[in-house]
Amino acid sequence: MGFAFTREDLDYLVSGSGLEVLAANDGLVLSAGSLLSDLTRLRRTAGEHAAAVAETIRLRRLAVPKLGEQAAGWLLTDEALQQASPQRVARHRAQRVAGVGMHDVTCSIGSDLFALTAGSPVVVGSDLDPIRARMAAHNLRGTGAGVVVGDALKPVSRGLLAYADPARRTSGGRRITSADTLPSVADLDTAWATRPPVLRVPPGIDYDALARPGEVEVVSLDGSAREAVLWPAEFAQVGRRATVLSSDGPGYGLTDQDPDDVPVADVGRWIVDPDPAVVRSHLVRHFAARHGLWQLDPHLAYLTGDVRPAVGRAFEVLDSAPYRERTVADWLRAADAGTVEIKVRGMDLDPDVLRRRLRPALKGPGSVVRTVVLARVGRGQMAYLTAASPAP
Ligand SMILES: C[S@@+](CC[C@H](N)C(=O)[O-])C[C@H]1O[C@@H](n2cnc3c(N)ncnc32)[C@H](O)[C@@H]1O
Repeated sequence: MGFAFTREDLDYLVSGSGLEVLAANDGLVLSAGSLLSDLTRLRRTAGEHAAAVAETIRLRRLAVPKLGEQAAGWLLTDEALQQASPQRVARHRAQRVAGVGMHDVTCSIGSDLFALTAGSPVVVGSDLDPIRARMAAHNLRGTGAGVVVGDALKPVSRGLLAYADPARRTSGGRRITSADTLPSVADLDTAWATRPPVLRVPPGIDYDALARPGEVEVVSLDGSAREAVLWPAEFAQVGRRATVLSSDGPGYGLTDQDPDDVPVADVGRWIVDPDPAVVRSHLVRHFAARHGLWQLDPHLAYLTGDVRPAVGRAFEVLDSAPYRERTVADWLRAADAGTVEIKVRGMDLDPDVLRRRLRPALKGPGSVVRTVVLARVGRGQMAYLTAASPAP
């Protein structure tokens, strides 16, 4: 549990003296070793709000790389920062509703709200948590957006398209269902039945089970899946879409309207592991068709081909055989490998246990790395000795 900001802390942080203290101390080290002396120093000017000042300085530093330069002056909580979408992802989402008046009904500290202000003529935010709503109001000052405290399940705006990014419940189970978000997808759809809202949900959610009319867009950033956006019918262009974003490149998109006619055949020169957005949007075959790849098995997310695609993680195949632990150990010894990465798909095998058992076969220098891919192919279990290839 992070630091709990009080109303009084917020009053102080947005006051003239609070702003001055924040500005004068934004270079404080705030390391484990310096924290006590930093707080002692802050107490001289900020008194009882010293810890709130220190926490704000710490969170702003973490927020800027994730949320953008504007976050250098924001008020945040630790949990709200963790929940906020990276600005690159929020901007991509906001572009799809440019020109539309928006109400972010779970706005938290206003990170998605900020992205919406770039293209939407009217932007309103609300959150059940008064501390977060107050922080959002501060963070959005000067943008024209209005923020109030409000329940997402009790619509107060009219004529605006609702957007909700419900919190993730910590239920512990692996399968994420509608009921695992707070508020739930079903409750949000009931509350906003006259104009179904845009919903941002965890990328692992079982969206097929939701059977919600419209489009599902799974978005990843730098190789990790960040969200699934449930676009209502009003905004749907396709059934499923994968959007692969990159911090330093153009990224790409793929939809269920793209061709997906690919054969199933033996392994080629490369094994390709598509981006998680492609896998979670069930567009693996579409990705294969675009890049001239084929499937090793109809149920496997790994693809194969003779030409390394310009995107995705790829592994050059050095050898292959039906899986036997001894064969894999012999391969590693012959390759003079010092490090092994093990990837298992569709087989009941713990890679960590296998890696420990293969340790005696790793006699080479640590810099000689091999990736062993183990996968159920047809009715058999196959092993592939590979070398990971850096992204082109
Ligand atoms: C995942 S966060 C949203 C993050 C936000 N999109 C952003 O840009 O930072 C979920 C938010 O939903 C709020 N929330 C939960 N139940 C709510 C409800 N019934 N009405 C309004 N807000 C609610 C929580 O207080 C929390 O701030």
